[in-house]
Amino acid sequence: MSAKKLVDADGQKKAAAIAALKYVESGMVIGLGTGSTANHFIQALGAKVKKGFAVTGIPTSKATADLATSLGIKLGTLNDNPFIPFTFDGADEFDGDFRLIKGGGGALLIEKMVATSSKFVVTIADASKQVKVLGKFPLPVEIVPVGIKATAWKIEKAFDMCGMKPKMTLRNVDGKLFRTDAGNCIIDCACGEIKQPDRIEVMLNNIPGVVNNGLFNGISGIIFVGKPDGTVEELRRG
Ligand code: 5RP
Repeated sequence: MSAKKLVDADGQKKAAAIAALKYVESGMVIGLGTGSTANHFIQALGAKVKKGFAVTGIPTSKATADLATSLGIKLGTLNDNPFIPFTFDGADEFDGDFRLIKGGGGALLIEKMVATSSKFVVTIADASKQVKVLGKFPLPVEIVPVGIKATAWKIEKAFDMCGMKPKMTLRNVDGKLFRTDAGNCIIDCACGEIKQPDRIEVMLNNIPGVVNNGLFNGISGIIFVGKPDGTVEELRRG
């Protein structure tokens, strides 16, 4: 008897992305996420567009806009489309209450703006992203590049008030300070376990200097999870 070949993480992402396409109808305006899983979705959408399927994509990053354009997907803006029926995006982690950590790719601000303008947010992920408690993945906090130290100690204090002492790292890429598409910086907060996730999301966002953070609580309602055995599970909130 031959052992069944397991699907790797990238294959799981692709399978979840393709399964999520069932919600897309021709003529729709849809939010397009950022990252490798969202890229699989955009590639599959591009293949449909080549066959005559019409959609308008609202990109969540410059990278996504570039990929979508290269595949012939028409783009729109959030300004012209403030109410979006569906958004499809990846996640760095999700828990059983449909809370997510996002922002590993640094696009959390526009991703959250597009997601909160959407009626349905569909998350697509490989099985490794499913966790009991959020926090193994460092929580990205987007801050303005002015007064970084002043903002950082207020972030530390907010975590302390919620019973956490994260290791905080200002994000660098290739030895250079990382800048988001909006020109901001990111502090990655390695918490281990995120305690009081609903409280800390709001507390962080109340700090002057913080633009937003990567906790997406109560935003996503549908999650497609690609599994190592090749199946895809669709989870629905409520
Ligand atoms: C980008 C994100 C991504 O959705 C997240 O980092 C997951 O990325 P990937 O699909 O490459 O695993 O939030 O800001």
